[in-house]
Amino acid sequence: MLLRTVTVSFAVLLSTFVGAASIEERTSLDLEERSFNLPGLCLKPEKRREWRSLSKRERADFLGAFKCMTKKQRNGKLSPVARPTDIPPVNPNSSFMDDIVYLHMDLNHWVHFTGLFLPWHRHYIHEFQRTLRKECGFKGTLPYWNWALDAADTEHSPIFDSDPHSGLGGWGNPEDDYQINDGALGDAIFNYPVPHRLRRRYTLQAFLTKNGSPFYTNPSINVNETYTQAEVDKVRYGFRGDFHGMQSYLEAFQGMHSAVHNVIQGDLTGLCPKGSNVTVGCTPGPKWTPNDPFFFLLHGMVDKIWSDWQNKHPENKYAFEGGSVQMIQNTTIFNQYPTGAPPNLHYNSVVPMAGMFPDTRVKDVMSTKKGKLCYVYV
Ligand SMILES: *[C@@H]1O[C@H](CO)[C@@H](O)[C@H](O)[C@H]1NC(C)=O
Ligand SMILES: *[C@@H]1O[C@H](CO)[C@@H](O)[C@H](O)[C@H]1NC(C)=O
Ligand SMILES: *[C@@H]1O[C@H](CO)[C@@H](O)[C@H](O)[C@H]1NC(C)=O
Ligand SMILES: *[C@@H]1O[C@H](CO)[C@@H](O)[C@H](O)[C@H]1NC(C)=O
Repeated sequence: MLLRTVTVSFAVLLSTFVGAASIEERTSLDLEERSFNLPGLCLKPEKRREWRSLSKRERADFLGAFKCMTKKQRNGKLSPVARPTDIPPVNPNSSFMDDIVYLHMDLNHWVHFTGLFLPWHRHYIHEFQRTLRKECGFKGTLPYWNWALDAADTEHSPIFDSDPHSGLGGWGNPEDDYQINDGALGDAIFNYPVPHRLRRRYTLQAFLTKNGSPFYTNPSINVNETYTQAEVDKVRYGFRGDFHGMQSYLEAFQGMHSAVHNVIQGDLTGLCPKGSNVTVGCTPGPKWTPNDPFFFLLHGMVDKIWSDWQNKHPENKYAFEGGSVQMIQNTTIFNQYPTGAPPNLHYNSVVPMAGMFPDTRVKDVMSTKKGKLCYVYV
C-alpha cells in the first residue's frame, strides 16, 4: 500500500514534467519501474547521435580519446571470469584498450546467442563511454552508425573517411594483410590476438567464406540485403511483446548484426591477423572485435534498435527473457535455443564485466532512462 502511494505521487510528479502520458498509464508503468528500485530521475537525457551528424571536431574528440586508450597503461583491474580455452592468455605488455577488448573475448560465449546479448552490450558500450571520459577527457556522447544509410553502397560510404583526426579510416591494403593506414587510428597498435594494426576488407558476399557451415543456410546472399531500412524497421516495429523473437532475428547468423560485422571483415569479424596461427593458435570468432571503433558505433545501432523496440509498445518496454547457456554446437540445438538454454535469466541476473567495469544487473539496463542510464537516440 505504501509503495503504491509513493508510486502514484512519483507518477504525478513525473507527469508534470513529461505531460504526455495519462496518469493511469504512467502509474502502472512506474509501478514496474519502482519495483526495480532505480534511483534518480532522468530529465535531461544525453543524446546519442549518428556518426555523420557529428561535427569534425566531435568526431576527432571521440577518435582521439579512443586512440588515447590504446596508448594508456593497463589499470590492473582485468580479472577474467569465463576463461574460455579458445583465446590467448592475457598479454602483460598491452594497453588499457586491450584489457577492455579482452573482457569481450573472455565473455564471448556468455554474451552471444544468450539472453545477455542486448543487456550486456548496452552496459559494455555505456561503460566504455564513461571510461573514455574519465581516462581520456572525452567530452561527447557515444555515437552510433545507422548502417541502413549505407546498405545500398557500403563500400563507398562517406563513413570510411581517411582524415587523420576525424576519420574512422577506410579499407585495408591487400598487400599488407588488409591493415588500414589512414584515419585517426591508422597507426594504432592492437595486441589481440597478436600485435597488429586494424584490418578491414569490404566483402559483399561475406557468408561465402563460412566454409559450408550449416548455420549459413543461404551463404551466397549479399550481406547488405539484411541491413536495409526495411529490415531494421521489421525488428524495431515488429515482434510485439516478443523479446525472444526480436533478439533472434536481430542476432541471427545471417541477420543484420552479423552482416554488418562481416561486411567489414578483419578485426570487426574477429579474423586472425597474419602471424597469429603459429604464435597463439588463433581461433577466429566474436572476440577481439572491439579493436575496431566501428564495434562501438555498430553496437550503438543495435542498442538503438532495442531501445526503439522498447519504446514502440508498452508490452515491449520491460520484456526480457533468454537462457544463460550458449547452444551453437549444431543447428538442431541452436534452433531450439537461439537465445540460450536454461538456466534462464531474469531481471536480477548479473551482467558480468570481468573487473574492468562494475558488474550490474539486467534490471539496471532495461531502460535507457533509468538508474545509471540516462540517454536517448536521436
Ligand atoms: C610491447 O608492445 C609494443 C606494442 O605492441 C611493442 O612495440 C613492444 O615491442 C612490446 N614490448 C615487449 C617487451 O614485448
Ligand atoms: C548491395 O550492394 C550492392 C553493391 O553496392 C548494390 O548493387 C545492391 O543494390 C545493394 N543491395 C541492396 C539491397 O541495397
Ligand atoms: C597453422 O598451423 C598449423 C600447425 O602448425 C599448420 O598445419 C597450418 O597450415 C597453419 N595454417 C596457416 C594458415 O598458416
Ligand atoms: C547437438 O548438440 C547437442 C548439445 O551438445 C547434443 O546433445 C545433440 O546430440 C547434438 N545433435 C546432433 C544432431 O548432433
